[in-house]
Amino acid sequence: MSVITINNLRKEYSSKSFSKNRIIALDNVSFEVGEGEIFGLLGPNGAGKTTLVKILLGITFPTSGSGRLFDKDLNDVYIKSRLGYLPENHSFPNYFTGEQVLNYFGRLSGVNPVDLKRKTDEYLNIVGMNEWRKIKIRKYSKGMMQRIGLAQAMISNPDLIFLDEPTDGVDPIGRKEIRDVLLSLKAQGKTIFLNSHLLSEIEMICDRVAILNKGILVKEGRVEDITSTDSYSFVTSELSDEVYNALLLNYKAVIQSKSNFLVSANNLDDVNIIIDFLRKNRILIQSVAKEKITLESKFINLIEHKL
Ligand SMILES: Nc1ncnc2c1ncn2[C@@H]1O[C@H](COP(=O)(O)OP(=O)(O)O)[C@@H](O)[C@H]1O
Ligand SMILES: [Mg+2]
Repeated sequence: MSVITINNLRKEYSSKSFSKNRIIALDNVSFEVGEGEIFGLLGPNGAGKTTLVKILLGITFPTSGSGRLFDKDLNDVYIKSRLGYLPENHSFPNYFTGEQVLNYFGRLSGVNPVDLKRKTDEYLNIVGMNEWRKIKIRKYSKGMMQRIGLAQAMISNPDLIFLDEPTDGVDPIGRKEIRDVLLSLKAQGKTIFLNSHLLSEIEMICDRVAILNKGILVKEGRVEDITSTDSYSFVTSELSDEVYNALLLNYKAVIQSKSNFLVSANNLDDVNIIIDFLRKNRILIQSVAKEKITLESKFINLIEHKL
C-alpha cells in the first residue's frame, strides 16, 4: 500500500526582495512512498525538501497539485495522529528539560498520561538521553537536541515519521545510533520519510530515494538500482599476454592490472562467456563482482548533468 502519494506538486513562494520574481520551490513533483519503507529525499540546500515535508504535514499549502497520506486528503485532520515529525533546526522551549519536552509533545499528540510516563522512559533510553532527562535543553549539544527531537517524533507511536535532517550536527557514533533507531522503527513496520543532504547516510539505510534539485525531481528509485552499474570487476591469477590482448580486443575490457580488469555486460550470459574464456585459458578466477557507484557520485553526475 502506498502511504504517501504526491501528484504534480508545485509550490511558488513570492520573493520579498525581488517583488516580481517568484521562487519555484517545487516544480511538478510526483512520487509514492510504500508502507514500511525508509524513503530518502535528497538534494542540495534550497532544493525544496523542507517545503515538500511541510506540504505533506499541512504546515504550508501547494500552489497546485495534490497529495495523499494513507489514501486520505492532506487536510484530513484525523491522519495527523498517525504522524511524527522532527523539524529541521527545531527549537523547543529551552526552559524545558528533556523529559518535559517529551511530556509536552506527548500530551499534545493525545498520548494518555499513564502510557506517556512509560513511553518517556522507553524513548529516552532508546535515544540514549536518560541521564540527561532532568537537565534543561538549553544545556544540550546539537546532537543531544537531535536525539530528544527524535524521541519527540516517536512518542505518539506514529505510523509515518518525517525526519528533516535528523543527523545534522550529530557525531559519527550518534549518527550510527540514530540509524539503528530508524532500522528498528522500520522493523516494527513504520514508514520513515527522511530529508537529508548526507548521501552516505541515506545510502546505508534507505530503501528508495528521490533526488530533488531546484524543485525538480531528477531521479527516483531503489538505492540498489541507482547505485548499480553494468560493469563487472574480475580478479584473477596473472593474465597471459594472449588473454590480456583478447580481453582488450574482443571484450573491450578495461585492464587495471595484470590480474584485475573491468568489463561491461548487459546480462549474466555475457559475464559467463568471459568466465568460460578465462577458464579455457587456465586463468584462475578469484572473484567476479558487479561494480557499484556511490550515491554521492551518482548524485553529482545527475546534478551536473542538469546544470
Ligand atoms: N517561507 C518561504 N518564503 C519564501 N521562500 C521560501 C520559504 N521557504 C523556503 N523558501 C525558498 O524555497 C526554496 C526551497 O527551500 P527549502 O524547501 O527550505 O529547501 P531545502 O529544505 O531543500 O533546503 C529555497 O529557495 C528557499 O529559499
Ligand atoms: Mg531543509
